[in-house]
Amino acid sequence: MRMRRIRNSKILREMTEETNLSVSDFIYPLFVVEGSGIKEEIPSMPDVYHFSVDMLEKEIRELEDLKIRAVILFGIPDHKDEKGSCAYDENGIIQRAIRKIKAISTDILVITDVCMCEYTNHGHCGILDKSGKVDNDTTIDYLAKIALSHAKAGADIVAPSDMMDFRVKKIRQVLDSNGYKDLPIMAYSAKYASNYYGPFREAADSAPAFGDRKSYQMDYHNSDEAMREIKLDLEEDADFIIIKPALAYLDIISRAKETFNTNIVAYNVSGEYSMIKNAIKCGLLNEDVIYESLISIKRAGAKLIISYHAKEIAKKLRGE
Ligand code: PBG
Ligand code: ZN
Repeated sequence: MRMRRIRNSKILREMTEETNLSVSDFIYPLFVVEGSGIKEEIPSMPDVYHFSVDMLEKEIRELEDLKIRAVILFGIPDHKDEKGSCAYDENGIIQRAIRKIKAISTDILVITDVCMCEYTNHGHCGILDKSGKVDNDTTIDYLAKIALSHAKAGADIVAPSDMMDFRVKKIRQVLDSNGYKDLPIMAYSAKYASNYYGPFREAADSAPAFGDRKSYQMDYHNSDEAMREIKLDLEEDADFIIIKPALAYLDIISRAKETFNTNIVAYNVSGEYSMIKNAIKCGLLNEDVIYESLISIKRAGAKLIISYHAKEIAKKLRGE
């Protein structure tokens, strides 16, 4: 068998492709801010915007038109405090955004990021103890409260991104006992303490005011540890597991795919996005590099991809 005989033909190459991208593989992140009439480009992330709730309609219509099936929401509140109280406020930014999107469209799944870092004045992903360290067990009660408030506002899936221990179990209990037994949890199971989150932290105003996230996010020297984290989240009844970032972590995606028979979601994060966008802008790379990168994530074993490239890839897939 000579591979060349197949490679010589464009049609045969297409017919024998092992990996494909489909628009339904993608989840598109949306950043929602307070105020009205706002659609502002995020300086660190070309072509990605901050939207006020009243400006979401046009964007949602465009996503519907592109056949994108799901969004993941991040909120940027005006008010921040020690306990991140706007995160679980019934009239908080995310709760209003969920209700708005649900009123605009029934075709788009609304996934919500459940974390505290955008809502706390210290920028950490949880509640601090007296010594200034994140207190795991107090934090998971708050996370469950946030998840429940998202469920009540109409979220279809909640996605805890904090990396506290036992938060999936806690959130599951609270959702179940409040009548949300069928609401899936998409857990950020293997989330590394990565330098690739830089542009996001600027976009979400969520950089920690002191210290770093290394006590709760994973050390990028480790791969076995990721398997243990994923196993625990699955045991706690996570419906989807997220691996994040994606491109520098394809080995983790591939290993998780081989180890667990489950739906793997890869988060193609802000730094990965902005690097590629800027390289294209500078004329250093041509824009097909976007497709190639996303294919690599799929080939590694991801079923779904959270990506800021979702809209441009949807356009490419329909031949624009
Ligand atoms: C919040 C959160 C972060 C991202 C998603 N949720 C940032 C962080 O952990 O500091 C990063 C996403 C991206 O870079 O695109 N916990
Ligand atoms: Zn966080």
